[in-house]
Amino acid sequence: MLEVSDLRVSYGKVRAVQGVSLEVEEGEIVALIGANGAGKSSTMHAVCGIERPAAGEIRFLGQHIARLPPHRIMRRGIVQVPEGRLIFGGLTIAQNLRLGAYNVPGRARAEADIDRVLEFFPMLRDRLDERGSALSGGQAQMLALARGLMARPKLLMLDEPSLGLAPIAAQEVFALIARLRDTGVTILLVEQNVRQALAIADRGYVLESGRIILDGEAAALAEHELLVSAYLGLQRGG
Ligand SMILES: Nc1ncnc2c1ncn2[C@@H]1O[C@H](COP(=O)(O)OP(=O)(O)OP(=O)(O)O)[C@@H](O)[C@H]1O
Ligand SMILES: [Mg+2]
Repeated sequence: MLEVSDLRVSYGKVRAVQGVSLEVEEGEIVALIGANGAGKSSTMHAVCGIERPAAGEIRFLGQHIARLPPHRIMRRGIVQVPEGRLIFGGLTIAQNLRLGAYNVPGRARAEADIDRVLEFFPMLRDRLDERGSALSGGQAQMLALARGLMARPKLLMLDEPSLGLAPIAAQEVFALIARLRDTGVTILLVEQNVRQALAIADRGYVLESGRIILDGEAAALAEHELLVSAYLGLQRGG
């Protein structure tokens, strides 16, 4: 579905992504994991058109998309839920959801989509008229996910959805992501929470200093000695 080959992203002299190749097949959760500054967000931003790649190819459903502007990439079905959630505290939950549907023409369709999306988020359904600022961190992440679904993604890219959440809220977010995959949404999941990301993912890639240093089946990666010593050993119980 998504094929990234030899992607490079630079910010001036900073070479954030230095030749990343990865694939996401339809129906998978693929985890992209790595430490702070590894280039995870930069990779994701290149795929959704926010950053222009310095080199490399990005194909989605067989078509080249690396030179398209973000809104046209989104219209093809790639939707990003950015790091830090970015929901609007001054708007109601319903208004936040409608904003996610701006690429879906027709008001009636957007309202029907709200109904469909809220089946995954019963907690939000009861609070549609409350302001975004009234939500806890975990609830705000749920709203950000729900808003992403409003855009009818074929590929949903999530940037550190568990960041800053209490363990129980993080678990709920991971469980929901797994459920979304089971209903047919393909997901590229950027995470630093390696253990939980690999627990729900089908495959994973490990990024270090802008390069993929390891990839494979999620279950095998979770047992890999490099990962266990570099990341998982620090996260026991986390
Ligand atoms: N807009 C920017 N301008 C300059 N340098 C940047 C910019 N964005 C990212 N970088 C640098 O590029 C490198 C990769 O950053 P990136 O945000 O892609 O990493 P990340 O893996 O998402 O990290 P984190 O876990 O902290 O979100 C880092 O060295 C970062 O400082
Ligand atoms: Mg990042």
